Amino acid sequence: MLTIRKATLKDLGAITEIYNAAILQTVATFDTEPKTGEEQKSWFAHHDARHPVLVAEQDNQIVGWASLSMWADRCAYSDTAEASLYVREEYRGKGIGRRLNEVIMQEGGKAGLHTLIARITEGNEASLHLARSAGYQHIGVMKEVGRKFDRLLDVHLMQYIYKD
Ligand SMILES: CC(C)(COP(=O)(O)OP(=O)(O)OC[C@H]1O[C@@H](n2cnc3c(N)ncnc32)[C@H](O)[C@@H]1OP(=O)(O)O)[C@@H](O)C(=O)NCCC(=O)NCCS
Repeated sequence: MLTIRKATLKDLGAITEIYNAAILQTVATFDTEPKTGEEQKSWFAHHDARHPVLVAEQDNQIVGWASLSMWADRCAYSDTAEASLYVREEYRGKGIGRRLNEVIMQEGGKAGLHTLIARITEGNEASLHLARSAGYQHIGVMKEVGRKFDRLLDVHLMQYIYKD
């Protein structure tokens, strides 16, 4: 059974393991060096009721996580957040990402956010499809803004606006 719930500090090790694997193996994130426990504690501390971190739990392990992070620290951006979504490799393609995404979007709505932004690297078809089918609109492409694994990479900007 799949359970989606708010993350606690106890989940941070598993969250970090999933994220660090994505850093080392994919261009989904533009981080290039694995995160340390201290860096992750600081990242977690920057989340709150308005900027939640969720985990997906199955088979007694954390199989994915999702977060809404501050888009920018200038106050007028406070109703905008950036969505992130990561599923453990062996558990991808089983609907876990879709479920995590649904719940994190609901949480953002309950918290009173107005809009969500997702930055999706070119070629990440699963993520682009997931965002589009959840109601995100494609608002632009930032050309060649990343360089990872010796490749220049475009980033698609996707936006979801909550209906009042
Ligand atoms: C993106 C990610 C979170 C999706 O999670 P997941 O659990 O594998 O996704 P799901 O199984 O819920 O599938 C989501 C949808 O993507 C579709 N999909 C999967 N792979 C696809 C592909 N290569 N091309 C197009 N669609 C694809 C699925 O068919 C499903 O759509 P449907 O429900 O309409 O059939 C996961 O692949 C992942 O962690 N990737 C690495 C990190 C990452 O890219 N994070 C996002 C950063 S923006």
